[in-house]
Amino acid sequence: MVANLRTLALASACAGAALLAVGCGSKTKTKPPIQWQRNMYDTQRADPQEEYTWFPDDRAMRRPVPDTVPRGRSAADSTRPDPDLLAADDHLYRGLVDGKPAESFPMPVTRALLERGQRQFNIFCAACHDRAGSGQAIVPRRGLAPPPKLWDERIRKQAVGYIFQTISNGRATMPPYRHSIPPRDRWAIVAYVRALQASVGVPVDQLDPETRKKIQTVEMPQ
Ligand code: HEC
Repeated sequence: MVANLRTLALASACAGAALLAVGCGSKTKTKPPIQWQRNMYDTQRADPQEEYTWFPDDRAMRRPVPDTVPRGRSAADSTRPDPDLLAADDHLYRGLVDGKPAESFPMPVTRALLERGQRQFNIFCAACHDRAGSGQAIVPRRGLAPPPKLWDERIRKQAVGYIFQTISNGRATMPPYRHSIPPRDRWAIVAYVRALQASVGVPVDQLDPETRKKIQTVEMPQ
């Protein structure tokens, strides 16, 4: 009897040990439970801006290799991607023709382009410039220095390529938009800015009678 009990105890101990050895958890494991050789499991790692003594300059964040420009980044500001940097077409991507601000559009100006421009202008520009381009929208009213009226003589005279560059690179407190608006859309916006400019200061007698009647009820911002 005692021998039987002993056999039973031994058998259940062995079964328990066997169960432990195979591991009976139902969760998926990503690491082996026991690592004999930890090898690359425990590498030194670093967070951005941290000290990291493995490199001679003790910085975790690496700088670009000298005299190189990482693909898709500009040399001047190598931490932000410049989507236009490696594009070959100067007219389309930089608003330049022969190194000067382009006087023409790189694509035909169609009604569809203008409508696209209107939509993108209202999304990206109207918060500051106002839908009509008066510069008296919500953001300037809350403290930003007000932008000029987009129909100012000075801006009317600017080449379309110059306005394209203003949108791409920003100006003073106006942020750059080349990261958020693709080049074709920037051109569509330029076309729409031209349409806005053309819509202000048109002599009333050049309008068709129906429009003339309509504008008598509209007040233009000064
Ligand atoms: C955050 C507000 C803000 C937004 C959004 C904004 N602008 Fe401006 N913009 C300004 C300010 C402020 C100025 C005046 C900058 C200065 O002091 O020269 C300006 C100036 C301009 C000028 C005149 C530049 C010159 O030569 O004087 C143009 C053209 C222009 N913006 C177009 C746009 C277009 C198109 C968009 C949309 C893609 C846009 N802006 C979005 C604030 C903004």
